Amino acid sequence: MSFSSKLIQWYAQNARELPWRQTSDPYIIWLSEIILQQTRVEQGLPYFQTFVTQLPTVSDFADAPEDFILRLWQGLGYYSRARNMHKAAKAVMHDYSGRFPTSYHELIQLPGIGSYTASAIASFSSNEVRAVVDGNVYRVLSRVFGIDTDINSGAGKKQFQELADSLISEKEPGLYNQAIMDFGATVCKPKQPLCANCIFVHECDAFATGRIALLPKKIKK
Ligand code: ADE
Repeated sequence: MSFSSKLIQWYAQNARELPWRQTSDPYIIWLSEIILQQTRVEQGLPYFQTFVTQLPTVSDFADAPEDFILRLWQGLGYYSRARNMHKAAKAVMHDYSGRFPTSYHELIQLPGIGSYTASAIASFSSNEVRAVVDGNVYRVLSRVFGIDTDINSGAGKKQFQELADSLISEKEPGLYNQAIMDFGATVCKPKQPLCANCIFVHECDAFATGRIALLPKKIKK
């Protein structure tokens, strides 16, 4: 079975139930992904619920006063995220008449949306084939494939993006992206990964060579 099929099969039985997975609305997915950028899922959940309730559409977001948005954001830190969101919401109203874009090329041009976030929104909302590479993905791929290139280097970023692009399911890119993130978050964890229960234990290069604790390799910036 292929790498992506294995992951998708694992995900079918082990997915975490998370509220932003019940929708294909790119605005709602965008809210969740920006909140989760530097924030753990458990911490981000109540904020996500508050934003969805208080600002249910991108038009509500764009029209809200900045201090209202910053108040809802209080406690999450990195306030530039909230300010960029406000700019992005206004841009969606102005440039797309309020229809939140779903394509990678449109998304990547909005303030606060980088390659990871554009890939996540495009794959989750419209099944565009764009592989996400976040901390979870670096960890899973570096270990399974035994890659010790520094993930903070340009060469490392390129190498992992290319590997991720080669592995993504063309049929179910959104599911695949969710699956690899959940797998990294709950099985292939930074500390005390669950190798005994891992679907890749027999092919994992890091496991075979005793390098689980050494990968991914991160040289301090
Ligand atoms: N972290 C960032 N995006 C996520 C998502 N869509 N699901 C779970 N964890 C995430």
